[in-house]
Amino acid sequence: MQHMIAPSILNADFLKLGEVISMLNASEADLIHLDIMDGMFVPNLSFGFPIIEQINAKAEKPLDVHLMTASPERYLERYRDSGADILTVHYEACEDLAKTLDNIASLGMKPSVSIKPGTDVAVLEPFLEKLYMILIMTVEPGYGGQSFMEVSWDRVRTLRSMIDRAGSGTLIEVDGGIGKQNLAELRNAGVNVFVIGTSIFRADNPAEMISELKGM
Ligand code: DX5
Ligand code: ZN
Repeated sequence: MQHMIAPSILNADFLKLGEVISMLNASEADLIHLDIMDGMFVPNLSFGFPIIEQINAKAEKPLDVHLMTASPERYLERYRDSGADILTVHYEACEDLAKTLDNIASLGMKPSVSIKPGTDVAVLEPFLEKLYMILIMTVEPGYGGQSFMEVSWDRVRTLRSMIDRAGSGTLIEVDGGIGKQNLAELRNAGVNVFVIGTSIFRADNPAEMISELKGM
């Protein structure tokens, strides 16, 4: 399977959001990654439903919505109505993960879970058959522009063998500190989907950078 690129707009210019989405529509991006932060689960705030809805109205690619929020189960239907295609909740934020994943699927979204760098990947084994995707955070969630954490290499490899053993077909996504410097090696370790913020939006030509990352 060819790897997918999911640009994170967190550090894009929000005064030019329309142009950013048009650029992504015309680019080789596979998904559009939206980071939702509530100032509780992570020490930062980002944006919410009205912005997701406006992006959805213009986006021609599936929305990959990453919830860094406490009690994400409270708003599943609203994320669906706002346009989420893939919905990622954090393992650390869910009281009943199995039920939350079932609810996401029954609302017609693709269920995904994320784990912070300090959470053991083995905790996800019982949920594999319900999971479209697993997002391994490769930085502490909360901010764009951080450095990739080296501890992630082992975590990706462990998860890849766990998924292959189970035969679940669950995709592996990574998020934080990704760019040309580490993409190919991560893909070789078994990653399928790459969330990339700073490396794309700080590039002189973001669309060209997406194309380079896709072609690696
Ligand atoms: C961090 C977010 C990321 C972030 C990635 O909490 O989940 O999606 O925007 O940004 P970079 O690529 O700058 O690390
Ligand atoms: Zn993210």
